[in-house]
Amino acid sequence: MKKFLIANWKMQLGVRESRRLAERLVDLLGHRSLPGEVVLCPSFPALTEVVTAIRTSDFKLGAQDIFWQERGAFTGEVSGRDLAELGVSHVMIGHSERRQFFQETDASVNKKIKAALACGLTPILCVGETLKERREGQRDLVLIRQLHDGLQGIILVDHDQLIVAYEPVWVIGTGQAVNPQDVSHAGAVVTQALIDLGWALETRNRVRLGYGGSVDQKNITQFLNAPGMAGALVGGSSLRAEEFVDMVANLA
Ligand code: PGA
Repeated sequence: MKKFLIANWKMQLGVRESRRLAERLVDLLGHRSLPGEVVLCPSFPALTEVVTAIRTSDFKLGAQDIFWQERGAFTGEVSGRDLAELGVSHVMIGHSERRQFFQETDASVNKKIKAALACGLTPILCVGETLKERREGQRDLVLIRQLHDGLQGIILVDHDQLIVAYEPVWVIGTGQAVNPQDVSHAGAVVTQALIDLGWALETRNRVRLGYGGSVDQKNITQFLNAPGMAGALVGGSSLRAEEFVDMVANLA
């Protein structure tokens, strides 16, 4: 299974800064093929600059969100059709910051995943519990609900792929990752939820699982090697070119 690394630049960089970081990554890694799938997710306004910077490389381009309609009077939204036209191949959906600050719900996540697949994009579905939910012993229930409702009615066909990223909300940006056993447990919960949705093995084979939340140069291997895990979603550490390049090397 191809391992992956997703760089979530959030709203941390300006357009020129994003371009410079992308160029630096291409410089450092050269134009050779990468040992896994590496997806850079800049902010919307930086997408065109970054796609230009990576055009001769093996990096892939991801967006941080998508709207579920393709066209229409939806001021401020961005469609999957436009993302695909720009060269985007992946899109993050349901990141906890969107759930927390922008009223993203499992129902809207579901519509966005369908829209992404319809446009040939690979959705990166982010799931994970808050600290309160974890303390109340709700972790598994939260994951099951987010997966059940988020993936309702979705069928993966042809070249469709899906990435599910387990991102415990309470460790994002803290520098304190969870332990790999926790991550493997979450992976097993995700797999069971897919089985409960009625997804056959052939469909489940199109799904790769990853972990996100304070992943850095020092801890990445334990997450990439955790049973059931195929990749990682990296926020803060993806903004430092040298550190990120070291992490890419771990995909081999
Ligand atoms: P972090 O962010 O690596 O800075 O914790 C991860 C994320 O929010 O996807």
